[in-house]
Amino acid sequence: MTYKIAVFNGPNLNLLGTREPETYGYDTLATIEKLCHQTGESCGAEIEFFQTNHEGDLIDRIQGCRGNTDAIVLNAAAWTHTSVALRDAVTAVSLPLYEVHITNVHKRDAFRHHSFLSDVSVGVICGFGIQGYEYAIRQAVVNLSK
Ligand code: DQA
Repeated sequence: MTYKIAVFNGPNLNLLGTREPETYGYDTLATIEKLCHQTGESCGAEIEFFQTNHEGDLIDRIQGCRGNTDAIVLNAAAWTHTSVALRDAVTAVSLPLYEVHITNVHKRDAFRHHSFLSDVSVGVICGFGIQGYEYAIRQAVVNLSK
């Protein structure tokens, strides 16, 4: 059985590699995309990978998952901490959500400690660098296979 998993990324993640490398490391978004596809191939998941700096575009992509996608892995970046609209989109499509952050947001600024997504997620993975994407995809497949 091949599962379809959407891996969506929010604002400024296109700058990974050059953006505050002391915080986010030197891996680029292209490296993350490759990791996600390799992970999907190894565990039986087709990956749809997408990044945007435009909130409405992300909401459109989430709405577009309804009926054709089995789970969503989402690094919503700053919108994690600000967007009720994103949360509503996620709950509207009724798909299992896996929240991912490269950094441990709980060790950072207080405003990053709150997430509008965590309580509507299956789980949250943060602080393990880009490996968090792999962990989320693998766990999504494990849960879908149950
Ligand atoms: C992030 C953490 C967010 O607080 C921040 O706004 C980001 C990236 C992460 O992956 O660690 O842009 O989601």
